Amino acid sequence: MNLKVNVTDRIYWLGANDRRKELFENLWPLPDGVSYNSYLITDEKTALLDTIEMGTGGDYVGWIEHLLGEHGRKDLDYLIVNHMEPDHSGEIGDIVRRWPNVRIVGNCKTFKILEGYYGITENLAEVKDGDTLELGHHKLRFVMTPWVHWPETMMTYDTTEHILFSGDAFGTFGTLDGAVFDDEIADFEEKYLSEMRRYYSNIVGKYSNMVQKTFCKLNGVPLNVICPLHGPVWRSNPGKVVDLYDKWSRYEAEEGVVIIYGSMYGNNAATADYIARKCAEAGIKKIKVHDASKTHLSYLINDIWRYRGVVLGSCAYNTNMFPKVEQLTTELLHMGVKDKLLGLFGSYSWNGGGVRNLKTFAETIGWPLVAEPVDVFGTPTPDKLSACDAIAAGMAEGLSKHE
Ligand code: FEO
Repeated sequence: MNLKVNVTDRIYWLGANDRRKELFENLWPLPDGVSYNSYLITDEKTALLDTIEMGTGGDYVGWIEHLLGEHGRKDLDYLIVNHMEPDHSGEIGDIVRRWPNVRIVGNCKTFKILEGYYGITENLAEVKDGDTLELGHHKLRFVMTPWVHWPETMMTYDTTEHILFSGDAFGTFGTLDGAVFDDEIADFEEKYLSEMRRYYSNIVGKYSNMVQKTFCKLNGVPLNVICPLHGPVWRSNPGKVVDLYDKWSRYEAEEGVVIIYGSMYGNNAATADYIARKCAEAGIKKIKVHDASKTHLSYLINDIWRYRGVVLGSCAYNTNMFPKVEQLTTELLHMGVKDKLLGLFGSYSWNGGGVRNLKTFAETIGWPLVAEPVDVFGTPTPDKLSACDAIAAGMAEGLSKHE
């Protein structure tokens, strides 16, 4: 592709839209694909910031050659590696083969992974937090941001034009369908918002405290443009994506409830619908119900991030939780999700296990229960279901009090 997409006068976006891949990291569904972004600066010295996933960008090297040629240049002086995950480092080998003298800029952790993946150990320029690199007009500063999203991740800040090359941070699932910049997208809320939160919650959310540390580091730093490695480039309203990431990394959530159940023969599904109706009667206006067997884990986590209230239901399964619910609780513990209100229900036919293990989950993760858990024996008849009224009432009360 020989597109010339200017971020500013001498900074270009180069990227690829991946509509083939079914699962990001071979885990997370990509119904709307994903973009891999990289950036080229053509100054007195030239620099490529990150690459793209191998094989997704056609003649990616030829594209860089073309843009360099537009400025009468042939050489690539620097390859700045903000993140080593292969969706961004996949073309490093091709870059080094084409420009064998390119200096690879990264930190000590970058280079360990670089050697592990690509066997590259030469022409390395190690930088530390706050180090700078002069390209001519542009002066770059490096900001170490470990665990946003891997240990080696860093950001590069152009102090001249106040542009932040932010790595995975401020990224999203979803391809760039012609529109590369935020001001070219009229329907962000419809097209990207949920996918951005699903990306944040499942990929970066575990490291929310490190995202907050990054915000501290960037406090007071002017941001004219944010250039992430996935999704739109934010040149008109970077504050919008900063606000979203800030909110999500502080576990700020909407006043609503997501009800997620595992049900083998429909009993728990009926209980979930009963609780949902009682929540509506109690005044909760945002309610979402999911069958954990049907809806992919990543969408469940997305809604858990979105709403303050969570109600989990599990039938007993071999004296434990239903496997799909158990998988969800394991992931939530792994992510260390905070600041939720919790309701629990379930069902059993012989000696239980669903609700018993959900209670253990609640104690471990530390989310307060809004009411006593309800474990229904057999069919959820009206007399048994009425015990669930307290879950809906407790959730409504808890949500109304939460600041
Ligand atoms: Fe988009 Fe952590 O890679």
